[in-house]
Amino acid sequence: MSKMENGLIVTKIKDGTVIDHIPAGRALAVLKILGIKGNEGNRVALVMNVDSHRIGKKDIVKIEERVINNVESELITLIAPNATINIIRNYEVAEKRKLRIPDIVVGILKCQNPLCITNNDPEGISKFSSVSKVPIVLKCDYCDTELTEDDVLRQILS
Ligand code: CTP
Ligand code: ZN
Repeated sequence: MSKMENGLIVTKIKDGTVIDHIPAGRALAVLKILGIKGNEGNRVALVMNVDSHRIGKKDIVKIEERVINNVESELITLIAPNATINIIRNYEVAEKRKLRIPDIVVGILKCQNPLCITNNDPEGISKFSSVSKVPIVLKCDYCDTELTEDDVLRQILS
């Protein structure tokens, strides 16, 4: 199915990463997580709002000559829980990583409570536990303030 859709829009890549099954409309947030601004030189393809039998409409991001690290994967999962990360080598899918939502997220997101110790101690490091996975809800380990998937998306895009 996705092969056919992609064939119509963008060709297969030789080496790099394909992030597939991103909820429609979130491809730009994925680029933001990866720090891609477009001036890095590698070729990047965005496919937005194509049909997916699994999740309705989806986005796809293809990046040549780049492998995704663990922190990036973790953040992508929080806004695209069904995403698949495909590592492509010589036109073949060499590795398919189906991500799972982490139990603990350390040092990446900000607690939204201005009085939280993590926002006031200069050495404070944020730490959230996932109290629900569908829909995603993270809870600050220090002050119990909760972050929803929309909050995470907003932080990434801000
Ligand atoms: N892809 C690509 N370039 C390649 C190989 C694959 O851009 N050289 C893309 C495909 O277009 C697809 C994704 O990588 O979007 C995963 O490829 P594949 O596993 O072949 O597709 P599906 O079987 O549809 O994947 P899934 O089961 O994860 O839906
Ligand atoms: Zn807090």
